[in-house]
Amino acid sequence: MEAPNDAPGRANAAQRIHTSDDLELSGYLEIASGHEPSSPLIRAEDRTDAPETIVILDFGSQYSMLIARRIRECNVYCELVPHDASWERVARLNPKGFVLSGGPASVYGEGAPQAPAYVFESGLPVLGICYGMQLLAHQLGGRVSPSAQREYGHAAIHLASPHAGNQQSAVSRQLFDGLPASLNVWMSHGDRVTEMPPGFRALAHSDNAPFAAMGNDRGIIGIQFHPEVVHTPQGKAVIDNYVRRVCGCRGDWTAGNFVAESVARIQEQVGEGRVICALSGGVDSAVTAALIHRAIGDQLVCIFVDNGLLRREEPERVVETFQRHLKIPLVHVDAVDRFLQNLAAVTDPEQKRKIVGETFIRVFEEEADRIGRVDFIAQGTTYPDVIESGAIGTQQPVVSGQQSALVGSHAVAATAHTIKTHHNVGGLPSEMTFQLVEPLRYLFKDEVRQAGLALGLPEEIVFRQPFPGPGLAIRIIGEVTREKLDTLRACDWIVMDEVKRADIYRDLWQAFAVLTDSRSVGVMGDYRTYGHVVALRAVTAEDAMTADWARLPYDLLARIANRIVNEVPAVNRVVYDITSKPPGTIEWE
Ligand code: XMP
Repeated sequence: MEAPNDAPGRANAAQRIHTSDDLELSGYLEIASGHEPSSPLIRAEDRTDAPETIVILDFGSQYSMLIARRIRECNVYCELVPHDASWERVARLNPKGFVLSGGPASVYGEGAPQAPAYVFESGLPVLGICYGMQLLAHQLGGRVSPSAQREYGHAAIHLASPHAGNQQSAVSRQLFDGLPASLNVWMSHGDRVTEMPPGFRALAHSDNAPFAAMGNDRGIIGIQFHPEVVHTPQGKAVIDNYVRRVCGCRGDWTAGNFVAESVARIQEQVGEGRVICALSGGVDSAVTAALIHRAIGDQLVCIFVDNGLLRREEPERVVETFQRHLKIPLVHVDAVDRFLQNLAAVTDPEQKRKIVGETFIRVFEEEADRIGRVDFIAQGTTYPDVIESGAIGTQQPVVSGQQSALVGSHAVAATAHTIKTHHNVGGLPSEMTFQLVEPLRYLFKDEVRQAGLALGLPEEIVFRQPFPGPGLAIRIIGEVTREKLDTLRACDWIVMDEVKRADIYRDLWQAFAVLTDSRSVGVMGDYRTYGHVVALRAVTAEDAMTADWARLPYDLLARIANRIVNEVPAVNRVVYDITSKPPGTIEWE
């Protein structure tokens, strides 16, 4: 199925791109701890107190993750599981209803995935979307045929008029409650339902699909359109109606509830154990640490490695927030000299990434050794990492993406094994044995932020734009020196200051300055100058797979450029990068 522009897309392994420095941090930690993928995790499967859950069976649509996000936006917990997940696994989630996602297959194709029998035997409501609807027709005795006219893109559906007093229209009324008789929707299908299964009635039709929506009196519903994409403007209302009205969910999945549940779970997992957590300055590790501290207090020790590659005042903010404000025991390691020594004379971007990663691992291990007994290592893995890594179908934690971020090779999905070998070649010290605590494993980024706010973290950290693990090292083209870092930090400070003042910080995926290796001639007063060329980069994006250069107002660009050439002595020219991704990457190195 083709994607409209808003789809973040189910990245295939070869396309995966990770944006979080915390994720990168996790990658380092995996390596430092010698962690094997079979280590125990906090998983929904182990829960006894799962919140009411909508279970999404994933048939491979690139929109599956979007369905999950939309359901969570209705304050209802949901999980995406493989289409062949066992009933044992699903039952533990406390399911209140199912969603069958779309998918690329044709129900009549050889080996086409089917919905498991428990979906129908459970008596729970089911919403089949696109391929999911075709499965309902196929498996419950209807008929699906290739459509003479493929329906792709915008379409209008018209709701069947209600038949007073019959159950059928009760389901229809619930699903389309509060919506007009005709809706604009997004379609994307070749096959279509031509004969409904016994007991079903048409709830809506479109020009090309006589059954654009169908349902029976048990709350088994099929819709041919995609309510999860923004091109179906009332899609969120359809999903909200399904989860609350058809499935009867209370909609009490909130950040506050998550924090309370999570605290109990962490206490259960960790017991009297000691946990270490590496802080990067980013939101995921910050929320992880704050949550674990809420659960187990000073059994948690945080380690913050200052690598000298952060933005101005960032190290101070981390120390201020965690040590003074949250009173979390924090080991603050000043490793600036060590990082800069190791980076001296290095100009190759991948080499820089590798050096930053390896130096972090060594410093982290030394500090962990100093702390003494450690039983657990905390990681800020989030749900998109889990889904995109394909780990939803396995018992395994996410490793490959983290590792690929580590070597900076976004285009190539590396396996944990390969990367470990790669680092072992560098001669890693003996392995440590920790178990993992991953309290954010089932949260989307916006939920992580909400949890962060509920835990009292400052907005500065909670809403921080993504920042690469190798930090400013990959925003200085060529060799990284102390002097260049100071120059770039001064420019970056001005960019941040002006972007925040213009109140567009949260609208941008990232905004930053790059210190190029070009110098140019300028004129200031009566004399000519020869200084650095700084490039501004500001992008908008849904995720970092694609990005567009931000149409920053000219006045803002002018203010930034003026301030930089006036306030940063080494710089005499500012240019704006107007390359989208693809073909350009977001970072310059
Ligand atoms: P690119 O430059 O590949 O970046 O378009 C996509 C997103 O990833 C971030 N990025 C990195 N993050 N380690 C990281 O942790 C890295 O080596 C790295 N390189 C890029 C980048 O900031 C953007 O959000």
